[in-house]
Amino acid sequence: MTTSSTPASQLTLTRPDDWHLHLRDGEALQAVVPHTAAQFARAIVMPNLRPPVTTVQQALAYAQRVRAAVPPGADFEPLMTLYLTDNLDPEEIRRAQANREGGAPAQVVAVKLYPAGATTNSDAGVTDLRKIWPVLEAMQRSGMPLLVHGEVTSPDIDLFDREAAFIDTHLTGLRRDFPDLRIVMEHITTREAAQYVRQAGPNTAATITAHHLLYNRNAIFTGGICPHYYCLPVLKRETHRLALVEAATSGDPHFFLGTDSAPHATHLKEHAQGCAGCYTAHAAIEMYAEAFEAVGALDRLEGFASHHGPDFYRLPRNTGRITLQRQAWQVPGDYAFGQARLTPLRAGQTLPWKLATPV
Ligand code: DOR
Ligand code: ZN
Repeated sequence: MTTSSTPASQLTLTRPDDWHLHLRDGEALQAVVPHTAAQFARAIVMPNLRPPVTTVQQALAYAQRVRAAVPPGADFEPLMTLYLTDNLDPEEIRRAQANREGGAPAQVVAVKLYPAGATTNSDAGVTDLRKIWPVLEAMQRSGMPLLVHGEVTSPDIDLFDREAAFIDTHLTGLRRDFPDLRIVMEHITTREAAQYVRQAGPNTAATITAHHLLYNRNAIFTGGICPHYYCLPVLKRETHRLALVEAATSGDPHFFLGTDSAPHATHLKEHAQGCAGCYTAHAAIEMYAEAFEAVGALDRLEGFASHHGPDFYRLPRNTGRITLQRQAWQVPGDYAFGQARLTPLRAGQTLPWKLATPV
């Protein structure tokens, strides 16, 4: 970690990628893709649509819809994922690989494991890891990463303990049974997860969101209940936030940027049973810069945001650059979202960094 007495007025980085993103479909997709395409060259697009994206054919069709929503002149490539169900045919892994080797631009690069019922649109998720053994074997052979929503779903386990319990109950065994399987523990939120990933060897990595670096669970309850800070896995105590900041800024290549930006209409967040998800795509890299600067680690941002992800996914690093300027700006109160509105994280607040050159 480094400190500097004269704060930098600008920061130029290799163009970053977002290794965990929700884009939805239809009008919602149209509304959010321009934000991400302005910041990131590529993004791993989550498959938890209704119905979920469970075949290569569906993933490629979804990729076309994403590309069609990219504004003219923007350069953005979606990296697609399949949603793992109890019934996913291992043949889909072979199809995804074949598509990859064929060099076609739309690529299915990973498979997402949601334990059934863990979060938004996860009802079709996996009920028992033993049911997906053949798929995991095929993935281990092919080198395709398994992206894990690492929370147990048992109602007996306290909401705040579900990630740590997942490591002990499932991840340790999965790691032992499939030593060569490439695993990304998505959006980690705890000290236990950071510690686990750090010592789990070269085939285990983790994404970290901007909101988990910036906030602890007090944010959800300060001055009344604040639904726009509610996501899953839920924000944790300050000790966990500090452990995540330490991991992200450590230079360890197994930690990289994944926003988990998850748009929900404002009226469904501000609701008696508000949806889980924070929308951060409008200012993601700015918020990461803020979190890194707070601990004097801006010099580590490029590795985390632009190098470690492609290295783990065995994809080339981007060649373009972006520049962030120290320029205070106010986040809009909301954005259009089809017929509804979308409230971004930090709505109406002032951010210290602003993206200057959306390539
Ligand atoms: O907060 C979340 N929102 N966590 C997830 O895992 C899913 C996401 C969504 O799709 O809204
Ligand atoms: Zn997510």
